[in-house]
Amino acid sequence: MSDVAVIGAGTMGHAIALVFALGGHKVRLTDTHAPTLARAPGLMHAAVETLAEAGEVSAEVRERGIGQSVRLCETLEEAVSGADLVVEAIIETEDAKRALYAQLETLMHPDAILASNTSQLDIFPLVPAALKRRTLITHYYTPPYLVDLVDVVGSAETDPAIVTQVRDMLQGIGMAPLAMGKFVPGYLANRIQAAIAAEVYSLLDQGLATAEEIDFSVIHGLALRIPVVGILAKADFTGLPLVNTVLTNGSYIPPAEPKSSPTLDALVAEGRTGVMAGKGFYDWGGRTPAELFRERDRRLLVLKQALRGVKPMMGKDTL
Ligand SMILES: NC(=O)c1ccc[n+]([C@@H]2O[C@H](COP(=O)([O-])OP(=O)(O)OC[C@H]3O[C@@H](n4cnc5c(N)ncnc54)[C@H](O)[C@@H]3O)[C@@H](O)[C@H]2O)c1
Repeated sequence: MSDVAVIGAGTMGHAIALVFALGGHKVRLTDTHAPTLARAPGLMHAAVETLAEAGEVSAEVRERGIGQSVRLCETLEEAVSGADLVVEAIIETEDAKRALYAQLETLMHPDAILASNTSQLDIFPLVPAALKRRTLITHYYTPPYLVDLVDVVGSAETDPAIVTQVRDMLQGIGMAPLAMGKFVPGYLANRIQAAIAAEVYSLLDQGLATAEEIDFSVIHGLALRIPVVGILAKADFTGLPLVNTVLTNGSYIPPAEPKSSPTLDALVAEGRTGVMAGKGFYDWGGRTPAELFRERDRRLLVLKQALRGVKPMMGKDTL
């Protein structure tokens, strides 16, 4: 069992704290914004309830709650003192992260590891020299108590043994760490998602399809195959000459990287900002965000549990 400090208790921080607590580690959680820190136990409790209903956490854990495993700390000093692993999940700005890392250099134990959850910043140049050997990126996907992938990335100065140690620790708590050789902005999953998003907004902006038609195509067309054959094993099944022809014959030209989408701009201007506002592309029928998140999580859990019995096919070693 390790002592883990999670810095930032927002959308990601509280959920990462929960992942480590459920994995049997002792966690300390802090945030500079007191109301955000105060909100965290309620959010963690709701997630534990959803997981317990689906049989993913034991009745004992449900009854005990995660109160004993996650301690809320008012100060950074209290959170970090004695921690083996410090997970940074604060706002995505260079200045904030640089300032925090400078504080951590003096507060962290000389052997403790710093792991940033940055979405797209190359944080390594922001880290003081004395911390560089012990710093890496561990990038989670929301909600991390349901989505297993964690991108694990060190810099040229990170001790490779630390990358291995953190990867093994994540594997030990049921995550699916992907150790990447170098920092790639957006990692892999987010880059692929960005390419899909570019195409989707182009279709909408050109008036070629509605939101309902796009989601219908994805849900009934693409989604079933992806857990079994991903993208490239699927290409093997299609046959690579056809894949090549489709790529090169120019009958369809993917959109250039869009800088904005008039469809998105119009929705945001109308206040249709998504689930938090009750309306976005879809009308969410007056349900609260908490109700909608729980309902999404319940359905994701049904799928996740079913997918445990489905082995992905990626070549002979997986047959
Ligand atoms: N939201 C996502 O889906 C997602 C997914 C993967 C990675 N990330 C990354 O995770 C990080 C956090 O994102 P989020 O969505 O949870 O943001 P968020 O805004 O919900 O939470 C960030 C929290 O950090 C706190 N904070 C700011 N400076 C601080 C400091 N010096 N010390 C302690 N707390 C501080 C803020 O008060 C805020 O509560 C970002 O780097 C983001 O890019 C987000």
